[in-house]
Amino acid sequence: MDGFKKRLNESVQLKLSFTLSLAILVVAVVAGIFSFLSAFDEAHELQDDVLRQVAHLMDRQRLSPSLPASDTNSKDGDEESRVIVQHLGDGNGSTVGVDDGGLLPLPATLADGLHTLDVDGETFRVLVRTTVAGERIAVAQESGFRNEIARDGALRTVMPFLILVPVLLLIVADLVRKMFRPIAALSREIDQRAEQQLHPVEDHHLPAEVRPFAVAINRLLARVSEAMASQRRFIADAAHELRSPLTALSLQAERLADADMSDLARERLAVLRQGIERGRNLLDQLLTLARAQSVAESPKSPISIQDIYRRVLEDLMPLAERKHIDIGVEGAQDARVWASEIDMMAVVRNLVDNAIRYTPEDGRVDLSVGMARGGAVLRIRDTGPGIPSAERERVFDPFYRRLGNAQVGSGLGLSIVQAIASRIGAEISFEFSDEEKQTGLSVTVVFPVLSQLQATQQ
Ligand SMILES: Nc1ncnc2c1ncn2[C@@H]1O[C@H](COP(=O)(O)OP(=O)(O)OP(=O)(O)O)[C@@H](O)[C@H]1O
Ligand SMILES: [Mg+2]
Repeated sequence: MDGFKKRLNESVQLKLSFTLSLAILVVAVVAGIFSFLSAFDEAHELQDDVLRQVAHLMDRQRLSPSLPASDTNSKDGDEESRVIVQHLGDGNGSTVGVDDGGLLPLPATLADGLHTLDVDGETFRVLVRTTVAGERIAVAQESGFRNEIARDGALRTVMPFLILVPVLLLIVADLVRKMFRPIAALSREIDQRAEQQLHPVEDHHLPAEVRPFAVAINRLLARVSEAMASQRRFIADAAHELRSPLTALSLQAERLADADMSDLARERLAVLRQGIERGRNLLDQLLTLARAQSVAESPKSPISIQDIYRRVLEDLMPLAERKHIDIGVEGAQDARVWASEIDMMAVVRNLVDNAIRYTPEDGRVDLSVGMARGGAVLRIRDTGPGIPSAERERVFDPFYRRLGNAQVGSGLGLSIVQAIASRIGAEISFEFSDEEKQTGLSVTVVFPVLSQLQATQQ
């Protein structure tokens, strides 16, 4: 009960449904009781009128209750529904609707008018009238039967309420649910967005009461988007500005290497040059990440994955040869994806670079392309140590590098791959190349079907 109260206080939808349903129920019950009672009274009123009419008729036609005419259709009528007409007081009389033996022992002292009397354990409604001829007649009917008729009639007036109330409750529940549907759809839409999707929410189909809320969200989204863009611009500008002095430093160090120097100085210079190279690599990766996170211009035509593989392999072949790694593309099947060339180069280059870098000497790296569920599937498998399941999420974090890693790197490669993948709607998954031995990394990137891709980019 407490849980329901809490939910009732928290949910406007529940509160509205509950309050409206309660209001409908209360109104229906009050209206039902009222119409039952008034219909019941009305029926009794009508029955009393019938008694009056009968008495009046007897009087006007100067009929005597003892006349044989009064017991016409005596056996046909229902025993309970009979209207008894008799002289009052002397006990001699006849009945209408029943045989002569149905007279009521009514006291002669009864005043003119309507009475409810108990006769032999049964209740009767009795009308006493003094006719013009001076006779006192009584017209009576069983109260039980009258009540039954009145109750039936009154219940019939309540019937529409009994049918309408559940229908009305269902309509209210459905209406309230429909009223809140746009809000639920709005929160679902915002919830499913990737962090780069900061475009304004559509507010024209929202109710006027909720629209200011959507407008406020849109303003916030615009501010967040602007802040993120200026942050990215700052990183890109800083990386760009740092590049020139670092290139100059690198040139100077190269020249210095040609000069005569002691072995110790040459050793130190080598370390210095490594440091400069690492700095240049970090700046390059930072620039690529900043570009990957910003919204790129839409590609003009789909691009061949085999083509990208060939160009990346041309660049990275020296690195693979240095480590005696057997690297190549499996099969000749090609697939096209709707992405920009720079994006595709960045994705494949980083994944292949990782595969070569983290695979020990004399290892093997296989690249392949396929189609599945209408989308292109790119797979890069190596014979390195692989990434344990527990760390497969974390390696996407910027600057995250696994411990015990002898390779030089900035930790930005997979962040770049993920930023591009989420922008173009691709999905990345990791597995072990050899599940049994839990070694080797197999990276799968599933690109959406071309038509889907065009839709996400709009
Ligand atoms: N093929 C792979 N085999 C084993 N470990 C990998 C592989 N690819 C990535 N990793 C692990 O994931 C970490 C993050 O990779 P990521 O490419 O983001 O950064 P990086 O290679 O260290 O630096 P960068 O690519 O920016 O020069 C790596 O440090 C490495 O430990
Ligand atoms: Mg890397």
